[in-house]
Amino acid sequence: MTFGLFLITFTGAYLLGSIPTSVWYGIGYFGVDVRQHGSGNAGATNTFRILGKRAGTIVMLIDVLKGWTATCLALLLYYFNEIGEDQLLTYKIVFGLIAIVGHIFPVFVRFKGGKGVATLLGMVLAVHGELALVCITIFILTLLASQFVSLSSILATLAFPVFSLLGVFGQPDPLLVAFGFVMFILVVITHQKNIVRLLKGNENRVDLFGESKR
Ligand code: G3P
Repeated sequence: MTFGLFLITFTGAYLLGSIPTSVWYGIGYFGVDVRQHGSGNAGATNTFRILGKRAGTIVMLIDVLKGWTATCLALLLYYFNEIGEDQLLTYKIVFGLIAIVGHIFPVFVRFKGGKGVATLLGMVLAVHGELALVCITIFILTLLASQFVSLSSILATLAFPVFSLLGVFGQPDPLLVAFGFVMFILVVITHQKNIVRLLKGNENRVDLFGESKR
């Protein structure tokens, strides 16, 4: 593959990830900057908290789509014979990771973005559908039991390398396992404040079944 093409797709993945959905949707549709409220995070959870279920769900779906689309840029390269099948997973991981970095450090809003979880889910869906379902199940069960999105995100992210390593869906792929642990470390880093709040017992909960504010 030519360096020029790699640079274009690499930049495309970063710009996709950089789209600050919660900020643009919140300000554009409600006139509210979610970064000024709640946890202050520019993400789907805080949008859900501040702007309601519908807005939170829309932001989450778009953020998932960003990660999925960026990761699928690798498929584009594959179908145009720019990379071989043996390189597909590596490129998916590279583009997905770049999109997550874009989400966390978005060029459009002074590099202050979200925590990367929804974009990571999009990437995982594009990389390994079965493992994505395991992660989603763990996320939902933890959320129902605790109402902490942060804890659910951390445990769901950890499930990916652990279930990869256990070989639940076939021979463990070292690249997937390594990628999973790198993602887990990244999510722990982006959730540092949440972890401190969880340990202190004052983490924000989300009211899943309460009446939506908007
Ligand atoms: O993915 C973000 C979520 O895990 C926590 O968000 O707003 O509660 O810090 P928040």
